[in-house]
Amino acid sequence: MTTPAQQPLVGILMGSKSDWETMQAAGKILSEFGVPYEAKVASAHRSPQLVTDFVSTAEERGLEVIIAAAGLAAHLPGVVAAQTLLPVLGVPMSSPALGGLDALLAIAQMPGGVPVGTLAIGSHGAKNSALLALRILANSRPELRKKLADYHQKMTEQVASETLPEF
Ligand code: RP5
Repeated sequence: MTTPAQQPLVGILMGSKSDWETMQAAGKILSEFGVPYEAKVASAHRSPQLVTDFVSTAEERGLEVIIAAAGLAAHLPGVVAAQTLLPVLGVPMSSPALGGLDALLAIAQMPGGVPVGTLAIGSHGAKNSALLALRILANSRPELRKKLADYHQKMTEQVASETLPEF
């Protein structure tokens, strides 16, 4: 059972347990910002009913953003977006045969009318999916917006302070 303070605001759905190795980067960012999330495995192909069950109750459970990660013929983000008005962020997982290009195209090439915000392949996409979810949530949460501004500032300062080795 969860208290309102712990009620997840972001749902991270992934097509396979094997995706979690990559997607934990999203969970890590959300945790750092103190934003509760739930993470679950549900496959558009292997367990479509589970996907529908997750999505159909997402709003009433308090979710405001859904991150959906999948590899290969990555239909999960699109199938999720087809069943909810919540913003859906898709993260393509890398795969041995095509390096994630297969999933990237499957997620990005949504037909008009059913939007999925597509992130980069792999861990960079996982990280940015969480940061984008935070930006969406921050529109109505000034404290979160401040944390994001601090994060951005710290990142900028880090880049500015980089030094390069001499030859
Ligand atoms: C996709 O198939 C999953 O999202 C995963 O990226 C890929 C491979 O799944 P496993 O065979 O590792 O379970 O549905």
